Amino acid sequence: MNLPENPLNLMHPAAEQAQDHVNNDRLQNAIAALARFGGRSDGGVARETLTAIDLASRRYLIDQARALGCEVSVDDCANLFFRRAGSDPELPAVLTGSHADTQPVGGKLDGAYGVLAGLEVIAALNDAGITTLRAIDVVAWTNEEGSRFGPGAMGSSAHVDPSRLPGYRTARDSDGIFFGDALDNALAEVADVPRRPMPLPLAACIELHIEQGPVLERAGITLGVVTGIQAVRWFTVTCTGMAAHAGTTPMNERVDAMAAAVGIAQQLYQQAARESAHQLRLTLGRWQVSPNSINTIPGQVTFSVDMRCGDDAVLERFEHALRTLLQNATWRGSMTIERIFLRAPTHFPESMLGLIEQGCTRAGKAAPLRLTSGAFHDAMYLAEHCPTAMIFVPSKGGISHNAAEATDPQDLLLGVQARAYAVTALACR
Ligand code: GLV
Ligand code: MN
Ligand code: MN
Repeated sequence: MNLPENPLNLMHPAAEQAQDHVNNDRLQNAIAALARFGGRSDGGVARETLTAIDLASRRYLIDQARALGCEVSVDDCANLFFRRAGSDPELPAVLTGSHADTQPVGGKLDGAYGVLAGLEVIAALNDAGITTLRAIDVVAWTNEEGSRFGPGAMGSSAHVDPSRLPGYRTARDSDGIFFGDALDNALAEVADVPRRPMPLPLAACIELHIEQGPVLERAGITLGVVTGIQAVRWFTVTCTGMAAHAGTTPMNERVDAMAAAVGIAQQLYQQAARESAHQLRLTLGRWQVSPNSINTIPGQVTFSVDMRCGDDAVLERFEHALRTLLQNATWRGSMTIERIFLRAPTHFPESMLGLIEQGCTRAGKAAPLRLTSGAFHDAMYLAEHCPTAMIFVPSKGGISHNAAEATDPQDLLLGVQARAYAVTALACR
């Protein structure tokens, strides 16, 4: 779709009406209801992708969407689409939504807010009695988190480029279950839902998300216009030595996989500190130790490496440093590395940012802040496919991927109002 050069000059009466019909009580009730699927006593949510609890939450979302009058469809990666028809069925739809899966222990809002806010936009349009020209599709993407099956954002990336899907099917979780098998099971659970081709042409995409970092809160600004997403690379490093008796094996005769792994980890943290001026972020978040016994020297240690930066050249340099460390390690065991995720920085188009700014300014009665996303999002793959952008609302204390993740309800409302405006304006042209 060709967006107008300067959308700030345009008036969008339907967009204003949609924005004014967003209902905060309905939104808060929806967030609380979805959080019960995998809800924990500490206030967090455990709803990793394609688990039984995730499948139950999908059925709940389907029922909610049908109650709003949406037509539901699913694609080959089990991404769910909830469509509110437009007056011209020939025109590409406007896509909005996010993901409903969580980290092993996540909060109520990461992803879920974006999906539920999409349904709230549809409810607001229903209440306002608006018929848009284009259809609006609210999407719930499969496996954005990447914590159970790597990489992240599998559903959105496979949707825009289905050639990625066969490779994803062979990813395994920590119990050895293949993503392909979990996917087939999820598709069987929604056998009543019509299949949608991957990908369909789209007019535009807007994702709404919590910031998950401290920038908006520290600036004292409620709404964020996301200009892009920083680069990310993920690796799996495996150190293989020899399991042996903890009490009897002399220290100088061991082939201790843990000693090798922590040595690499230590040097990586030192290298990351040298890159601190470039805002490099390094996380070694998952460790698997075999045989994981108190009195056996670890025979094999596998750990994950998550590196992020706004400047891809810094990640290129850091990946090279990691590979050099592994090559130069002097011990009698072996070390292997596999890169499982690589994404250069994403830049959203100015034409979309201007429209979102307009929706944010009207909702928040103040200018929003432009910022880059530290987290990755499905929108980075949609940006390959159609004009795409994101809206952020603040995260209390900048905390996310944690049960304590929270956002002021009033800020959540403003985010949905901004999105209602932008999505409606796009769907009316
Ligand atoms: C998304 O969950 C990310 O890790 O950025
Ligand atoms: Mn998310
Ligand atoms: Mn997340």
